[in-house]
Amino acid sequence: MRETEQRAARAYREQFGEEPELVASAPGRVNLIGEHTDYNGGFVLPCAIDRRVAVAVGTGGRGWFETSLYSADFDEMRQIDKDSSWADYPRGVAWAMGEAGHEIGTFRAAFAGNVPLGSGLSSSAAIEAATALALDAFFGLGAGRTDLAVICQRAENGYVGVNSGIMDQYASLLCEAGAALLVDCRSLEARNVPLDLTAAGLVLVVCDTRVERGLADTGYNDRRATCERAASTLGVEDLRDATEGDLPLLSGEELKRARHVLSENARVLEAVEALENRDFDGFGRLMYASHASLRDDFEVSTPELDTFVETAEEHGAAGARLTGAGFGGCAIALVPEGETAALTNACEQAFAERSFEEPAFYEFLPAAGAELAG
Ligand code: GLA
Repeated sequence: MRETEQRAARAYREQFGEEPELVASAPGRVNLIGEHTDYNGGFVLPCAIDRRVAVAVGTGGRGWFETSLYSADFDEMRQIDKDSSWADYPRGVAWAMGEAGHEIGTFRAAFAGNVPLGSGLSSSAAIEAATALALDAFFGLGAGRTDLAVICQRAENGYVGVNSGIMDQYASLLCEAGAALLVDCRSLEARNVPLDLTAAGLVLVVCDTRVERGLADTGYNDRRATCERAASTLGVEDLRDATEGDLPLLSGEELKRARHVLSENARVLEAVEALENRDFDGFGRLMYASHASLRDDFEVSTPELDTFVETAEEHGAAGARLTGAGFGGCAIALVPEGETAALTNACEQAFAERSFEEPAFYEFLPAAGAELAG
């Protein structure tokens, strides 16, 4: 068992005085390319990271069948009622399973994780996906992974109250080690695309800018609303259906947002082709172009994210861009093996010169999606 899975199992034993029935875990993610396209019916290409949330589940004993949720990281026990804490994610999953017509009994669960919180690496999708996989096995629901991802998104939209797309939950449940996941967010078809960074002599470096994503929800919902307005101006269901020829019909913010979504969808498909041809230079150029479009047309970058991307380019990164919703959070770069320290040092210096918060760095290889342990 992984360290997080062992900690969840140990926490379960300590809190509930029994062995858990099963343990599951699910990863956070970075998105390689395809940003703000999921809720426009478009394409995304995330990969899972080797930071996970684990959950140990059981019924508990001695005739006491109330649902209890324990977090080893917060050292907190919560019950089933909604309270705007971390526990709303697993509660939301149980609720959404009921909404989807599944019979869910009461259960006990203990959680432990190491996905950085609130930095855009999808710790919320990880706790949802781990809970969904564990409850599916525990209650013998037999739901498929794509159904579980939709249930997790429903939990986030309908219970937690965040209007996110499907990308993060798909990534956490369907990614495979050594691969990126191409998702068509309209048909919900997905396929893994091999991403052998080691063979290419590259590593994936993540820079957490530590910028508070305080305005993220407002900004995110605002971008969604503008995209919906642009689609309705054009008379299409989603911006996915718009073409270059439609753009002159738009103006102002609607034009800029739509131009990003159109060009980004095209870049995802080109990026998949580049990966299939092991053309990492081409892939990297698409990452830089994606960042420029997010900065200039979608306007979700920050000076910190831009500084990281510029520094990465100066230090020979194949590609770099902000990842996730933007408004702070993380950026990624594909860096030649052995060059990470040079980049992170230069970046720390550039951040210090501009009086930014000190950033945090991680190196990842594309990791496995959600799994039952043992
Ligand atoms: C957040 C959301 C995703 C997606 C990205 C932007 O991570 O949860 O659904 O919309 O932002 O690409």
